[in-house]
Amino acid sequence: MLKRIAPGAGAIAAMALLASVANAQEAVDEDLMALGEEIYGNSCAQCHRSEGQGTPPAFPALAENEFLEDAGAVASIIHEGREAMPPFANLDAEQVAAVATYIRNSWGNEYGGVDVDEVAAYIGEDVEDMRVSVWDGVYTDEQAERGEQFYRASCSQCHGIRLDGAAEDPDMSGSPAVARARLIRSWEDQSVASLFEYTRGSMPEQNPGSMSNEQIADILAYMFQVSNMPSGDEELSPNPADLGRIIVEYDPR
Ligand code: HEC
Ligand code: HEC
Repeated sequence: MLKRIAPGAGAIAAMALLASVANAQEAVDEDLMALGEEIYGNSCAQCHRSEGQGTPPAFPALAENEFLEDAGAVASIIHEGREAMPPFANLDAEQVAAVATYIRNSWGNEYGGVDVDEVAAYIGEDVEDMRVSVWDGVYTDEQAERGEQFYRASCSQCHGIRLDGAAEDPDMSGSPAVARARLIRSWEDQSVASLFEYTRGSMPEQNPGSMSNEQIADILAYMFQVSNMPSGDEELSPNPADLGRIIVEYDPR
């Protein structure tokens, strides 16, 4: 027989505390949630995966991750990046609030909404001004030449000598093209910081993390050159803060 136990004073206090924490949360705005889901699919899922499960240890899970409780810390890491998390300086306050709302309230997370005005006060409004395009001459020819050597040594067996996904080694078929329209389609509207961190963290597929940051930047320069993006006077830097401002897009000319 089940015995009914009256809740003691301690349990009642704990329940009241839980209720007050829940009440302190911002309500979740459904429009922000929908916008956030879209941004997440385009900009975050390639590393943190569609169900927020991540690809540990390179890319942490966001599902059931207590870090997400602190909305300010979440907005900050999205805007500024941290270590191998690329900065999303190209997202405006509403977009940051939206994707923060989405990850804080999906896959079992229930951390509440994120206020657009609070994010705006923190990251400012001058997002568009900082943007540079991959078509603005963001690498040098010399760098692309170095990149070609590294690419042939570590990438072409799967992605093909012409970067078209036609693997040199038949056992390695099934790898995508990494230049031209396919590259742009995969990364459109995302920053080169995301492309860089994805490549650095997961390629070459059989041995991720084996290349230096400089080598990865050189290989990206080569991928841009093969994609007919013009070269310029300055090398593509391996610094995420610089790469976060360069946006992948179709030729605007
Ligand atoms: C290129 C891969 C990549 C992409 C794209 C990416 N992240 Fe991350 N993210 C990381 C890595 C790596 C870390 C761990 C950073 C560290 O080691 O400090 C991280 C950490 C985080 C954290 C903190 C988690 C914790 O436990 O500390 C949050 C929140 C987060 N990312 C959200 C996002 C959101 C939102 C997006 C899309 C707007 C995104 N990330 C896109 C790689 C990525
Ligand atoms: C063993 C085979 C293999 C090697 C070697 C390899 N890759 Fe990959 N690469 C893949 C596969 C498979 C995918 C698709 C992964 C997925 O979709 O989850 C991929 C995906 C990519 C993507 C994303 C493409 C897209 O459209 O989103 C980039 C960029 C990339 N690789 C760059 C590189 C670079 C640069 C190197 C060399 C440093 C390299 N890869 C070496 C197999 C390989």
